[in-house]
Amino acid sequence: MAASESTASTRARVGGAMVRQAKLQDAVNIFELVNSLSGDGTLLRRSYADICENVRDFAVAESESGIFLGCGALHLYGPHLAEVRSIVVKPEAKGQGAGGRILLALLKEAEDQGVLSVCMFTRIPDFFFHFGFRIADRTTLPDKIYKDCQACPRLYACDEVAMVRGPLPRIAVLGPTRIAQPELVKLQVGHIAHPVEEPSTASEAVGAGAGASAGAKDPS
Ligand SMILES: CC(C)(COP(=O)(O)OP(=O)(O)OC[C@H]1O[C@@H](n2cnc3c(N)ncnc32)[C@H](O)[C@@H]1OP(=O)(O)O)[C@@H](O)C(=O)NCCC(=O)NCCS
Repeated sequence: MAASESTASTRARVGGAMVRQAKLQDAVNIFELVNSLSGDGTLLRRSYADICENVRDFAVAESESGIFLGCGALHLYGPHLAEVRSIVVKPEAKGQGAGGRILLALLKEAEDQGVLSVCMFTRIPDFFFHFGFRIADRTTLPDKIYKDCQACPRLYACDEVAMVRGPLPRIAVLGPTRIAQPELVKLQVGHIAHPVEEPSTASEAVGAGAGASAGAKDPS
């Protein structure tokens, strides 16, 4: 399902919030709004430093006159999985399409990055059903569990449901629960057999370069 094919009518609404990529100047607003809902566990608490470091993950909604209305972030685990995080709209701006527009912008970002699987944990699955998410078994998302759940005080009393949009990820890259590992560059142990001599001419230099690269391909 493409980001534009959600069932919510948000995208058809005229006027209202505009969504754009966040800038560092938005970090204070993001920090205050996200943490205003972290006390009861609605959102994960995020430090100001964390928000600044990851500000490029965020989209923000603002009114036509530039007033900050809300935000959301897309965290990239890798080509196999992204996660919607910290999605929130100011209380006075709820129900006017801002949240939906932020979510659509994040889904478009995932699409642009070539990521088909987008996950999130939430207490309000109904909102996300509108946008093509479905409930999933949380054990199918080991990256998310390793990143956030292991250190969460609610680990054994979690009241959130896991949701996924698109296919389930087939690999994981974090933690000991790796399902598969992307191929890493293999370093070769060895030494340079022949000291490199300074070439005296340009043609010698080219010849030496070709010899060196041929030698590099030799696995012995
Ligand atoms: C969830 C939240 C971001 C939605 O933002 P919003 O601007 O009010 O949502 P929208 O107006 O864009 O609504 C989009 C659609 O979702 C529906 N919707 C909105 N909130 C919903 C909810 N809590 N449950 C079910 N459906 C919801 C709307 O009816 C609308 O459907 P429609 O287009 O068919 O009319 C906002 O309510 C919020 O900030 N909640 C507190 C933070 C939170 O819980 N975040 C999620 C953490 S995982």
